Amino acid sequence: MLEKRRVAIFGAGYIGLVTGACLAQLGHDVVVRDIQQERIDILRNGGVPIYEPGLEELIAANADRLTFTLDAGEAVRDSDIVYVCVDTPPTPSGDADLSRIWQVISTLHDASHLAAVVVKSTVPVGTGARVRAAMDRAGLQHVGYASNPEFTAEGAAVRDFLHPDRVVIGADDPEIAKLIAALHDGVDGPVVEMDIASAEMVKLAANALLATKISFANEIATICEATGADVEHVVHAVGLDHRLGPHYMKPGVGWGGSCFPKDSRALRAMASNSGYSFQLLSSVIEVNDLQPRRAIQRLKDELGGLADRTIALLGLAFKPGTDDVREAPSTILASRLLADGATVRCWDPLAPPLDTAPWPSTTRHDTPLEAMTGADAVIIVTEWPQLRDADWDQAAAAMARPLIFDGRNLLDPKQMGALGFTYMSVGRSTVRGA
Ligand code: UDX
Repeated sequence: MLEKRRVAIFGAGYIGLVTGACLAQLGHDVVVRDIQQERIDILRNGGVPIYEPGLEELIAANADRLTFTLDAGEAVRDSDIVYVCVDTPPTPSGDADLSRIWQVISTLHDASHLAAVVVKSTVPVGTGARVRAAMDRAGLQHVGYASNPEFTAEGAAVRDFLHPDRVVIGADDPEIAKLIAALHDGVDGPVVEMDIASAEMVKLAANALLATKISFANEIATICEATGADVEHVVHAVGLDHRLGPHYMKPGVGWGGSCFPKDSRALRAMASNSGYSFQLLSSVIEVNDLQPRRAIQRLKDELGGLADRTIALLGLAFKPGTDDVREAPSTILASRLLADGATVRCWDPLAPPLDTAPWPSTTRHDTPLEAMTGADAVIIVTEWPQLRDADWDQAAAAMARPLIFDGRNLLDPKQMGALGFTYMSVGRSTVRGA
């Protein structure tokens, strides 16, 4: 039988809200605390400040076990376990900024009743040991500490939480590991227990290896372009080898989001800080930085320059199924296009209005067709299903010049050629329509 716990979640972002909603779904009482009044107001009024499939329904279904507050003291007072789910953005040196974690820890003065503090935020190895020491100094020696990194991908976060490949728990005290494992009773996946430092490293290593697979596929794609091979055939057949697997081998304009870019830089910085140059990871990052720039260069060559050209950018989010544009390749693409004198017309079904550079210098349109109307070229940046299903015949007629750069290899080259497009993609030969 589930031992019902009272859990305080610090941070109402993607991870905190998904963790809170899922723990409530498992039967626990959850209070989510954030410092942003607006977020808490939205949540208290039954809304969800971010888009994540299934999250709104899950929060609504568990409303009697979920509360939201701005008050850290209240959240701690009413709980047995505190989960730290705040963000850890990069500092100028590439290290993770842990100030938000320390802020949470500093609110734990009236916390001697707690059973455990758990850090879910992605942190450098050794952070847990430092938090443990800070808790000891604050007289919380008897309160347990655990690392419980998240492996959820945006757009599938609820599913990933409830049906994970693994739940990783790092704790030095087996009783605390048992407590946090029991909190996950009902989750459909194996629990793996280890020491705190190893748990912190699992997260960074897993993301770095996933990013490596993608950058590897992108390098193979570049060689395919130069040699006439078709990268889609290549990665499909390579991925059928059970030792390699088909996942994270999709070539494109590069990985983005809140995790891969930040975590790969943080792991590299962590290695550099200890005097080790993680060359493989540096190359993985460099390949990714090049992907959108190579796309622009190829388009520039095709159009004979970008000055006074109009380019439609389809998809701003870093991947489909999310409204998140953090470190999305679209940002580099738009900036490069503008820098070379192009006019940029954008479409995305979920991304909110964006007021930071480069977006105010671009225009936003309600439909892909509207964005493409009069354009000299279109770049597919995010593989939204709406783009696969778009009326490309109509688009060809509406564009000033029927040219597609498919940055996600979403469309069929032959079909696009038959519609009269010049169709460029990643790691496949360019098709020139009649
Ligand atoms: C990732 C990890 O998957 C997750 O385990 C971790 O907790 C957080 O980081 P997320 O950033 O949500 O999750 O997105 P993911 O679906 O992994 O995609 C990351 C980026 O890689 C996207 O920009 C996506 O377009 C790109 N990608 C992914 C590729 O270019 N090719 C692929 O084959 C897979």
